[in-house]
Amino acid sequence: MGLSETTRRALRLTAGLRPDSDLSLFVGQALRRPQSVSALVPASDRLAAAMAAQIPEGPGPVVELGPGTGKITRRILGHGVAPEDLHLVEINDEFVSLLRQRFPELAVHHCGAQTLCDLGLPPLRAVVSGLPLLSFPAPLQARILRAAFRQLAPGAPFIQYTYGPSVPVSARLMQALKLTARRRNVVWGNLPPAQVLTLHRLHG
Ligand SMILES: C[S@@+](CC[C@H](N)C(=O)[O-])C[C@H]1O[C@@H](n2cnc3c(N)ncnc32)[C@H](O)[C@@H]1O
Repeated sequence: MGLSETTRRALRLTAGLRPDSDLSLFVGQALRRPQSVSALVPASDRLAAAMAAQIPEGPGPVVELGPGTGKITRRILGHGVAPEDLHLVEINDEFVSLLRQRFPELAVHHCGAQTLCDLGLPPLRAVVSGLPLLSFPAPLQARILRAAFRQLAPGAPFIQYTYGPSVPVSARLMQALKLTARRRNVVWGNLPPAQVLTLHRLHG
């Protein structure tokens, strides 16, 4: 499904008002691939910081799904995750090129989040997701969450932001995968305001 002409005009205007090459790239990709990018602008710095703050200390790699231009990536590194422990999984070739230039010390995997299990990583400390889960069809949502929880260490969080008031995963899927959601923060200063939540797998 494409964006309406009004939305396209608003995006062009926004890009014109802020001479920021990341923003232009982001807007361009939002126009070309509305379903997978599914946002008008990247995460704000405040939202990025709120996401990174949810990463627990401890061993194991951290995977970021859908890093885009790397706004949250920067904050994850600032939070103290060692570069060798951070893996980026991005499906968009333009974003992958930018991320490889910008973060040469990181492993940037050019693939879909649904193939996370193929990367052969040890149990993960956390997954940080910038994926627009709400706009994904239910089967894709299910594949991504199944893959993530197969890789996460017991009790480790799947950290997600959403622009809606509720959990961006259907109750049916939450139940099928035995997941529970915890609301962590609302970032009012983001455009639009965003909610940070963590998903966990129930045990027993
Ligand atoms: C809403 S943007 C978020 C970008 C960035 N994390 C931020 O917050 O500004 C969604 C990102 O997810 C990526 N993406 C969409 N579907 C994906 C998939 N199946 N696997 C990996 N990345 C995906 C898009 O290319 C885009 O970079």
